[in-house]
Amino acid sequence: MKVEVIVPAAGFGLRMGAKVPKPLINIGRQPILIHTLRALAKNKHVQRIIVAVNKENKRGFEKSLKRFHVDKSVELAEGGLTRGDSVANCLKRLRGDTDIVVVHDAVRPFVAARIIEKVIQEAKKSGAAIIGVPLKPTIKEVNSQREVVSTLPREKLWEAQTPQAFKKEILLKAYDKFVNARVTDDASLVEKLGIKVKVVEGSYFNIKITTPEDLVLGEAILKSLRVVGTAQCAVPTKIGNVA
Ligand code: C5P
Repeated sequence: MKVEVIVPAAGFGLRMGAKVPKPLINIGRQPILIHTLRALAKNKHVQRIIVAVNKENKRGFEKSLKRFHVDKSVELAEGGLTRGDSVANCLKRLRGDTDIVVVHDAVRPFVAARIIEKVIQEAKKSGAAIIGVPLKPTIKEVNSQREVVSTLPREKLWEAQTPQAFKKEILLKAYDKFVNARVTDDASLVEKLGIKVKVVEGSYFNIKITTPEDLVLGEAILKSLRVVGTAQCAVPTKIGNVA
């Protein structure tokens, strides 16, 4: 089975408000992107990783990739105006013999090896699979006057994360048909095709670094990992232990 991974990293980072692109901010001693790429590169099926980056920031990404070794072939593609545009640009570069395409946000550095493998295997079986976790908070729909419109039934709600994995033909078809649809993940486009998407239970450690407080959480998660300095294992060593 041949797998290629697409990593959208061309966001504008408006919610982070930093000068450097978010994936290049360090957590521990290395950029968020490098944690992410090293985790993905460990998977034995992965042949190549295609990273979408903004033209203006390309040099910064190149420098980072030169400085920190990633154990798989990594190629840069041009990012787009939306996340979907960035993924679409990467899809054009896929190899003919690729069976499964995995899409994973550049800014989710704590993805565990076990989770990557599980979502790939589920996509191989069912065609489309995502990682998700049951929602912990209560979610309200709120209107423009900040009034609650409804309370959504939490038992049915899961937070969608990445990695998301698809048989190549399915993802290509979804992007071909709905490329201009404004969605926030890739599975939404596959759902629009009427194809069932399986949810594989993931981990609450697989956070998306979005705002400055996520950096604080990120540092804490990194410290709690068994192998400090790498993001291969999203299982804390100390939580629950009595000193
Ligand atoms: O902004 P959002 O939370 O959807 O970003 C998720 C991922 O998509 C990030 O890794 C970000 O860099 C990437 N992205 C992109 N191109 C865009 C917008 C976001 O590659 N135009």
